[in-house]
Amino acid sequence: MTSKLIAPSVLAADFANLQRDIEMINSSDADWFHIDIMDGVFVPNISFGMPVLRDISKHADKKIDVHLMIIDPDRYIETFANLGSDILTVHYEACTHLHRTLQAIKAEGMQAGVALNPHTNINVLEDSINDIDVVCIMSVNPGFGGQSFIENTYTKIAALKELIHKKGAQTRIEIDGGVTNKNAKQLIDAGADILVAGSYVFGSQDPIATIKDLKAIANG
Ligand code: DX5
Ligand code: ZN
Repeated sequence: MTSKLIAPSVLAADFANLQRDIEMINSSDADWFHIDIMDGVFVPNISFGMPVLRDISKHADKKIDVHLMIIDPDRYIETFANLGSDILTVHYEACTHLHRTLQAIKAEGMQAGVALNPHTNINVLEDSINDIDVVCIMSVNPGFGGQSFIENTYTKIAALKELIHKKGAQTRIEIDGGVTNKNAKQLIDAGADILVAGSYVFGSQDPIATIKDLKAIANG
C-alpha cells in the first residue's frame, strides 16, 4: 500500500520567520508543502502571491502543492509551473472549461488537482476523474485557516473513492481544512490519501512532533 502523505499548510506559518518555518518542514516527516493562493475574489481573503512562492521554492526541498483559490486560473498555469509548483490544484467552481484547464496543467509537467467546495457534490467529476491526479475535498469553506472541520466530509470521501474505483482511475484524495490528530484516522479510513494541516501543525508546541504524529496516525 502506498504511504499516506502529510502536507503542512504554509498559510499558518510565521511570515516574518518564513525561512525558519520552511526549514522546519524540510526537516520533518512532511511530504508536501501546501501553498494557499487566494485572490480576494473567489474567496473573501488575500493570502500571498508569486514573489513569496518564488522564495519558498528556493528553500523547500519537498514537493510543492499549490492550491489556487482564484477565479480564471488558466491565466497563471505557466507562471506557477515556472515558480516550482509540482501539483497545481484549481477549483471546480472556478473553471468553465475544466478539461482544457487540466490538460494545460499537465502540459506544463505538473500533476493536476481539482478542489471541491463543501457544497459541491463529487458527482460533478464523473466525466473528468480519469484526467485528475488529485481531488482536494475542502473540509472547510476555503479562504481561512483555523476553521472547524465539516463532518459531511467523510461521506464525500467514501463516495469519491467509489467513483475512482468504478472508473478505474488513479486519482488520490486530499483533505484540506480543520485536520487534526482527532479526525486524521477516520479520514484515512474513509479513503483519504493526503492530509493538509495548517493551524494544527503551526499552532502546536512542537510542529515537528505534531507532523510525525499525524504521519504515524495516517500510516498506522
Ligand atoms: C483554507 C486553505 C487551507 C488552510 C487549512 O482555505 O485551503 O489549506 O490553510 O488550514 P487549517 O488546517 O488551519 O484548517
Ligand atoms: Zn488549501
